[in-house]
Amino acid sequence: MTDLFDFKSRRLRFAVVGHPVMHSKSPQIHEAFARQCNVSLSYEAIALDPIAFEQGVRNLQAGGLAGLNVTLPFKEAAFRLSDEVSERAQIANAVNTLTFSGSDQLAGDNTDGIGLVRDLQQNLNIPCVDTRVLVIGAGGAARGIVHPLLQTRPNCLVIANRTASRARELVASMGSPDKVYPCALDDISDSFDLVINATAASLSSEVPALPEVVFHPKSHAYDLAYADQPTAFMRWALGLGVAQAVDGLGMLVEQAAEAFWIWHHQRPQTGPVISALRSGVR
Ligand code: ATR
Repeated sequence: MTDLFDFKSRRLRFAVVGHPVMHSKSPQIHEAFARQCNVSLSYEAIALDPIAFEQGVRNLQAGGLAGLNVTLPFKEAAFRLSDEVSERAQIANAVNTLTFSGSDQLAGDNTDGIGLVRDLQQNLNIPCVDTRVLVIGAGGAARGIVHPLLQTRPNCLVIANRTASRARELVASMGSPDKVYPCALDDISDSFDLVINATAASLSSEVPALPEVVFHPKSHAYDLAYADQPTAFMRWALGLGVAQAVDGLGMLVEQAAEAFWIWHHQRPQTGPVISALRSGVR
């Protein structure tokens, strides 16, 4: 270890990189964790040019940053740039946490999926074992969560996408495990205990074209997106009488907590940070 990682004596510098990124809550979250854990750090949001991502990362590394969080649209590029990646990043084919070492090496990890699972299980008390789980979407966001979800041992995990071939490709890339099934949105003919919206539809206030049968009265609806107001998907699910509809703010904080653990080897309390953000955004 170089003195880059001598946490006690140096004010470590971190950033989240994306395009756009100025709306990011990551600086607020990491600063709150740092206060809780008595860690000295600075954390900025930095927009990188999409056509010069690697150069941007190298400049930040040369500038002495200790690590980066990576958000849209750079997670796949960060994966390709990493010299070593964790198993969960390998499976997701995407990296959201980069750690610089003194020897110019880049270690990539992906904390999105574990962030979702922790939010479901520890914050929301939503059971996954032996339940029927539906993930809608087959893009990067879905790819980051399907393997950690499968590790929660659901009774079945269905991946439904507007373009069914992408759902089939995603399941094939997971090695077509038992209990994981791809389908098209309009193939859904039964209800699920947990329905997770991992599409980009919420970004344009749209709702994926799902049949209403997807919910039963005890279903939980989870949108990976979050906004100041309940998302269109949450409103739609609540209108159909689900037990609970939540957004991805808790996942955002939990994925940050896992990145904080990677960098500082301390586990911050996430509950107070989620509450503070929630009262700020609602
Ligand atoms: P991300 O990295 O955010 O997942 P992506 O890889 O472009 O972005 O994937 C976007 C996902 O949202 C896809 O599953 C896409 O469905 P298609 O594969 O059919 O394009 C899904 N999506 C986007 N807008 C949607 C909408 N209005 N209704 C349903 N699915 C939508």
